[in-house]
Amino acid sequence: SHRIMLGPLVAAIDQGTSSTRFLVFNSKTAELLSHHQVEIKQSFPKEGWVEEDPKEILQSVYECMERTCEKLTQLNIDISNIKAIGVTNQRETTLVWDKETGEPLYNAIVWLDLRTQSTVERLINKTPGRNKNHLKHKTGLPISTYFSAVKLRWLMDNVDDVHKAVVSHRAMFGTVDSWLIWCLTGGKSGGVHCTDVTNASRTMLFNIHTMEWDPELCKYFGIPMEILPRVRSSSEIYGLMKSGALSGIPISGCLGDQSAALVGQMCFQDGQAKNTYGTGCFLLRNTGPKPVMSDHGLLTTVAYKLGRDKPACYALEGSVAIAGAVVRWLQDNLGIIGSSEELEKLAASVGTSYGCYFVPAFSGLYAPYWEPSARGIICGLTQFTNKSHLAFAALEAVCFQTREILDAMNQDSGIPLTQLQVDGGMTSNRLLMQLQADILCIPVVKPSMPETTALGAAMAAGAAEGVSVWSLNPEDLSEVTSEKFEPQINTEESEFRYARWKKAVQKSMNWET
Ligand code: G3P
Repeated sequence: SHRIMLGPLVAAIDQGTSSTRFLVFNSKTAELLSHHQVEIKQSFPKEGWVEEDPKEILQSVYECMERTCEKLTQLNIDISNIKAIGVTNQRETTLVWDKETGEPLYNAIVWLDLRTQSTVERLINKTPGRNKNHLKHKTGLPISTYFSAVKLRWLMDNVDDVHKAVVSHRAMFGTVDSWLIWCLTGGKSGGVHCTDVTNASRTMLFNIHTMEWDPELCKYFGIPMEILPRVRSSSEIYGLMKSGALSGIPISGCLGDQSAALVGQMCFQDGQAKNTYGTGCFLLRNTGPKPVMSDHGLLTTVAYKLGRDKPACYALEGSVAIAGAVVRWLQDNLGIIGSSEELEKLAASVGTSYGCYFVPAFSGLYAPYWEPSARGIICGLTQFTNKSHLAFAALEAVCFQTREILDAMNQDSGIPLTQLQVDGGMTSNRLLMQLQADILCIPVVKPSMPETTALGAAMAAGAAEGVSVWSLNPEDLSEVTSEKFEPQINTEESEFRYARWKKAVQKSMNWET
């Protein structure tokens, strides 16, 4: 059979909260040639707890790689053309494993997990002026259940195996990127223990100015520095794949998924922004080579550092914990829909929430409030309300939350965004996209190739020194074709609904009192 000649290919592992994917791109055209996706189980062992199985995560990566390679072979594409692999991942999710046995010592504690709420409240109460931003000057982050340090602390205090491994110098900590790279490069027989600057910046142990682990922060959380991975740039060769069909190929890109989406959307200029709708929803705006501190509840985070000798770029980030997760909740917990496509149909059948507002604060509220004690609330119900209105309210919630972080972003930067670049699974919901434009009162722009997160990681991997099959010069990057959603309702209507939403948010924060 004839093999098609394509030139160099680059691949990406995209390990998200709800699913894992492996994707292969043509480095000349950025065309997606093949991919495979596997769902990831989440377990909720107690109220507020969210865990995933590290071995299942790893297995899903191998499965996606194998299936994608099979598909490529069926397309007559030679997999030996794959020159580099990038890793992009759900951020903050925390793992500890034993470096001698290679075994995880507990499940991965997922970023959404609330078990550290009381620890967080205690830490904040101990700071001068009960200030949740006490560590923000170094980390860019508020003290919150969201970031890895408190999760790691919980593991050391509550899991005997973790505690024992730490005292006997056998423990390795990592976010999902570190776990995967360590396993894929050989695990207990010589795996590389590393992370990149973007993932490190989400742990609360990393100083975003010096770009190093911070001894004072480690002391504050009681974390021994020897268990931390080495911090590398987002684009360099970390190691080679050790087994399987792709054995010998360099892993040479690593970025947290939101940073990867920023790169994949080509937001390389100061002021450019993107919003990704996944399990959560994350709006990042590139602020160039200097970290900008927010006065409006946004995070300061490392956007990317595309090469060892390249400068780091920073971003302001508005994080929303629950976006796609609300769809899964309506499906799994309430059973009012059988699939996400059904949600769109249901909501479209009424075209209004009929005054119903749904604040899905399942994991507390993130940006701009950072209120771990907030809980979900549905209000404005009447005898008339039905599941279609509730479905509409759920979609609107995603849009209102984005509006809140966009407002904060505009206030912080003083230069309002005139349109919003979007990506992620939920952007296939056209009703959601139209609603988003209506509620933001600016156009929403969606690229025709939706896998921008994976593209960003693949670009970083292909551009690494020693691989260099992908140029990141803006002139060389192909034009992205896109679809635009223009606002269709008037501003008064939009502001009226947004004001109601804000009232509902206040209730979600004070429902106990
Ligand atoms: O910070 C968490 C984020 O990285 C998770 O992204 O797409 O899995 O919701 P996603």
